[in-house]
This record gives sequence, structure tokens and C-alpha cells, in this order.
Amino acid sequence: MSNESLANLLKEERRFAPPAGLAAEANVTAEAYERAKADRLGFWAEQARRLSWETEPTETLDWSNPPFAKWFADGRLNVAYNCVDRHVENGLGDRVAIHFEGEPGDTRSITYAELQREVSKAANALIELGVQAGDRVAIYLPMIPEAVVSMLACARIGAPHSLVFGGFSADALATRIKDADARVVITADGGYRRGKPSALKPAVDEALTRPGTENVRSVLVVRRTGQEDIAWSEGRDVWWHDLVEAQSDQHTPQAFDAEHPLFILYTSGTTGKPKGILHTTGGYLTQISYTHHAVFDLKPETDVFWCTADVGWVTGHSYIVYGPLSNGATEVLYEGTPDSPHQGRWWEIVQKYGVTILYTAPTAIRAAMKWGDDIPAKFDLSSLRILGSVGEPINPEAWVWYRKHIGADRTPVVDTWWQTETGGIMISPLPGVTETKPGSAQVPLPGIAATVVDDDAREVANGSGGYLVLTEPWPSMLRTIWGDDQRYLDTYWSRFEHKYFAGDGAKKDDDGDIWLLGRVDDVMLVSGHNISTTEVESALVSHPKVAEAAVVGATDPQTTQAICAFVILRGDADAHEEGLVEELRAHVGKQLGPIAKPKRILPVAELPKTRSGKIMRRLLRDVAENRTLGDVTTLTDSSVMTLIQSQLPTASSED
Ligand code: WT7
Repeated sequence: MSNESLANLLKEERRFAPPAGLAAEANVTAEAYERAKADRLGFWAEQARRLSWETEPTETLDWSNPPFAKWFADGRLNVAYNCVDRHVENGLGDRVAIHFEGEPGDTRSITYAELQREVSKAANALIELGVQAGDRVAIYLPMIPEAVVSMLACARIGAPHSLVFGGFSADALATRIKDADARVVITADGGYRRGKPSALKPAVDEALTRPGTENVRSVLVVRRTGQEDIAWSEGRDVWWHDLVEAQSDQHTPQAFDAEHPLFILYTSGTTGKPKGILHTTGGYLTQISYTHHAVFDLKPETDVFWCTADVGWVTGHSYIVYGPLSNGATEVLYEGTPDSPHQGRWWEIVQKYGVTILYTAPTAIRAAMKWGDDIPAKFDLSSLRILGSVGEPINPEAWVWYRKHIGADRTPVVDTWWQTETGGIMISPLPGVTETKPGSAQVPLPGIAATVVDDDAREVANGSGGYLVLTEPWPSMLRTIWGDDQRYLDTYWSRFEHKYFAGDGAKKDDDGDIWLLGRVDDVMLVSGHNISTTEVESALVSHPKVAEAAVVGATDPQTTQAICAFVILRGDADAHEEGLVEELRAHVGKQLGPIAKPKRILPVAELPKTRSGKIMRRLLRDVAENRTLGDVTTLTDSSVMTLIQSQLPTASSED
């Protein structure tokens, strides 16, 4: 971003008050903000009491060596005990923890008592494989219950896990195994994707031929798809059903220090080698448990929670595994994609299990918008009471569509901002408290300090934009980048003194509420104005013919950068319609002002996305500037780029 703050273009006036019933019964009320403001550390010490500690902490925060934080340092606890055993001890053994829905339609409901037995057996199996506290275990699994069981088994014996998303290649897996120096890999023969089995084990075999992975002693393999021609390395590979099933279902969890490592999770980052984000035990679980309770207003006796993320992302770690289970929730775990075997699959699952709280990503909401309103309308979604969004800025139009077509214009939508690095939700409305604004994450949660600053680290006035920063340490913050303290300092703590730099552009509206505007690397400079890609995308999506948009700044001799937009049209719109591009440009001009009118608009069938659903603007910039494409290995589908390039010449609007 240049030395001028972000232009504040979008005006969104719609407001939605919390439903009266929900507000009256809400887990967390406005008073929490006051309490946390008066005594932030006291507030977090109180939240730590949500957990069962073997040794209660007497210290809250040790910030004597910033930015290396220690939270609850003299406390000791076991994460798996907190997520499983204590619920059984409290008489909740028969409550369903997980309703598993496999992509082919196979199902399994697992109670807390069963989960305790499964986790104990898996913990005993890891011990038999020689895994000790502190050893790293790589997990490369589809979205099946064994993924959750494996994570909890690692936590139970104090072996930090490192999940690698099942869609990643052998290369990506090898890099992560090597960086974490993993000793065991847990995988499966394969998983189901769009109705077909898709193999996983060959990628592990290949990864383990790479230098630096020699310390992997064992590969534990779940049989999921039953593929027959599976390669086997005797002495190294062992079937889950042979080893785990043979174990005792009794295991006594041992407590670990609050700062004992819980997991490493790699963020790809746009350049360079992936960063191993390190999270630890007591502070992490405190904030994850609290935020899950507060933001989703979870009532564990009656709610059915569903977070649609993959367990391989931080959203899955925090809001499939550690948040819901520490709170004794009943949740859905779904293996597959939203459109398999039909585009109503998710809504069918909501109806089937009576899901009350749904947590998903804007990319999925926009896909549902594109497929059409009539699809969710075929299902009974009346059980839903809260909807959540995470992963990207949500365009106001997608937010309103989500509330209306999924939430029957009744459910609050909570737009939750956070990162792999923050571990848990940081900025979000509270469903029983906040009057919501479509497109805004709005307010830091109680106990969280966030604001927006300019280039000189000065807090911007309401109505202005700049950089999002976190000004106080928080319990679930990353502790470092695995093996690279210097990179931790450089990446997050050197841009502004004593402040965590999130890398996101943001603005404060006239009420001081925060609106996220995308990664600062994506901000465009047009004729001396910093303009957010997110705002132009939102303006495009607010046109009735547009379902999704990706905007980039392409080098331009006159204006420094020119706005270039790629749009996916809604189901019934025609890409060749005369005057469409002009109509869209005029619409953006009307919404945001003439400066924000895209110079070029290109209707496309698909957009390049990372496997977690984020648009890869870098590749679109390459296209817009007629460059050869950069690294496409993290794309879900690289043919998308070929398709876009082939469409290029005809659809320009510049002349
Ligand atoms: C980046 C972090 C948080 C878990 C999943 C992604 C973007 C995330 C929002 C939101 C606007 C958002 C930010 C952030 N982001 N949530 N509600 N509104 N932007 O984790 O892969 O570490 O990505 O995702 O740019 O920095 P991640």
C-alpha cells in the first residue's frame, strides 16, 4: 500500500437487530465487553476456568519477552481429557459427539463414550509405535472420524500433530514432513471426492522417498476406500484396523504444561517456504472454547453444530475439533463436496441432522448463489438459528443472500475474522448482542484488542482505512514459526512496533466498526488512490447478474494500476448479452464512484482458487498483464487458468 490510507468507498446501510429470543437467552451479553475492558487478563483467567486443569494456573500472561508469549504458564492440563473424558465423567457419555456423513452416503454416529474408547486405543497404538511426548506426527487423511480421533490421540500423549490437507501433493506433504521432522504419518488408502475414490497413500509413499523424511518410522493407514492395488512397505506400513483395533480402550491421560506444543499447521503464504505456525495447549484451548461458546451461542444440550471446513485447515482444528468437543457439542462431520451427488447435498444434511448452527466460507455461499435460490428452497432448513462465515471478506450481497435463503431472514449471520496465526476468532459480532451489518466483522471480541492504523502506526479516525493490527497478546496466538523465531519476528512484529501486523487492509466505519478489505498485497493503486479489491468485488456482486467476482490491479501507464475484473454470472445470466460489461461498469461507478469503475470486465466460468477457497489474485494479475503464469501448484484446478486465458482477447471493454 502506498503512503495514503485506503479509500473508503462502500456504503452499506442495512442493519439487522439480534432476534429478541436469542438475545434474552444469549450465552454472552454486552456486559462481557465491559468486564474485559476493565480487566483484560482477569477476563481471560476467568475463561480459563471453562477448562479442567490438573494444576490450576496462578499466572495469566507472561509477556516479559515479547512477542514470545506464555499464557497460564504454571497450569497443567490434558487437551483430550478436556475434549472427551470429562464429558463422559459428567454423565454425558451417551451424547453424540459426531454425526459422520461420508460422501457415498455411509454414516456413523459416535457418542462421547465411544470417542473416549477410540481415542484411547489410538493413543495406545501411537505409544506402541514409539511415539513420545514432543514427537511430531503428520496426519494426511480425508474428512473421516479417524482424523479427529488421530488429532485427539496425539494431543492425549503430548505429540504435536501436523495436519496436511488431503488435497495437497506429495511435494507439499514431503516439505511439511521434513520441516516438522515427523516420526509417524497417519493416512488412508484414499477418500471419496465427487463420488469417486481418490487415493492418498501413493502420495505418502512418494513423499517418503524425498530426502529429509528418513525419520518417519511408521505409516499408519486407515482403510477407507478399499482400493486393492495398494503398495505396502513391510516394517513401515501398518493398517489402522490391525494396530489400533487390537489396543486396549483404556488409557489414562497425563497432564502437560500449558505451553506444551499442541500442533503445527503450515500456512502456504504467497511466497517462500510454508510457515509452520505453532500453537500450544492452555491458552489455545481457553480461547477456542470461549469463542465457540460466545460467537455461536452454543447450547450443547440442544444444538447441532456444523462447520463445513476441512480438518486440514485451522478452521477445522479450532471449530471442528477443539472448540465443539471441549464444549461437549454434538456436531456434523461431512466428508465430501457441497455438490455431490447434487447441488442440494449440504441442505439435505442440515435437514437430516437438524443442524442449528452452520459455519462456512463465502466461497461456498457464492457457489450456492450461483446454483440458484430454488435449490436450498427444496429443503427444510428451519432448524437453523445461527449462521457463520469465515475465510475471506464476505460481500454484503452474499451475506444478505445467506441470511435470506439459508436463514429464512431470521438467523443472525456472524462474520468472523481470524487467521491460522490467531488460532481462534478475533473479530466478530455476538449473535445476541450486536446489530449486524452485512459485510463487516465489526467488533473485536471481549478480551481482544484490534484496531486500524496508517503507515505511521497511528490509529485512523472513524471513516478511514489502513492496516489491521492487534495491539495486545491473546491466549490462542501463535507462539512462533516452527524452527524460525526470526521469521516470526520479521513477518508479524516488525512492520509496526509492539503491534501484530495481520497483513489485511481494513477500515473503520463511522461507528468505529471494522470492515476487512482483503490482503494488503491485493490493494490497488489507481490514480493516487488506494482501492480495495474487496470493495469493487462487492459492488460487482451486488449486481443481480453477478454471483462472484475477482478484481486485480494491472499495471497501467496512465493510472499506475487499472482495475481489471473477472466475473462469474448467476445461473440465468448470458455472458454474451449486448451491453453487459458497460452495465456492470456503470453499476460499480454508481455504487462506489467513478474512480472504482473497472477498466476491463471479463465474464468467466470459473475463478482460480486455493484449496481453502481463496481467490488467487496473483494469477489473475499475471493474466491481466499478459505475463506467463506463476506457480500454479496450489490451485484446485489448473485448467481454470487455461480457460480464462483462452477467453481473454474477446472480452475486454477498454476500447
Ligand atoms: C486470512 C487468514 C480464519 C480461518 C480460515 C482462514 C482472511 C479470514 C475473514 C473474514 C475478511 C477474512 C484474511 C486473513 N479472512 N476470515 N471474516 N473477513 N477476511 O485462515 O488461511 O490463515 O487466512 O483470511 O485475509 O488474514 P488463513
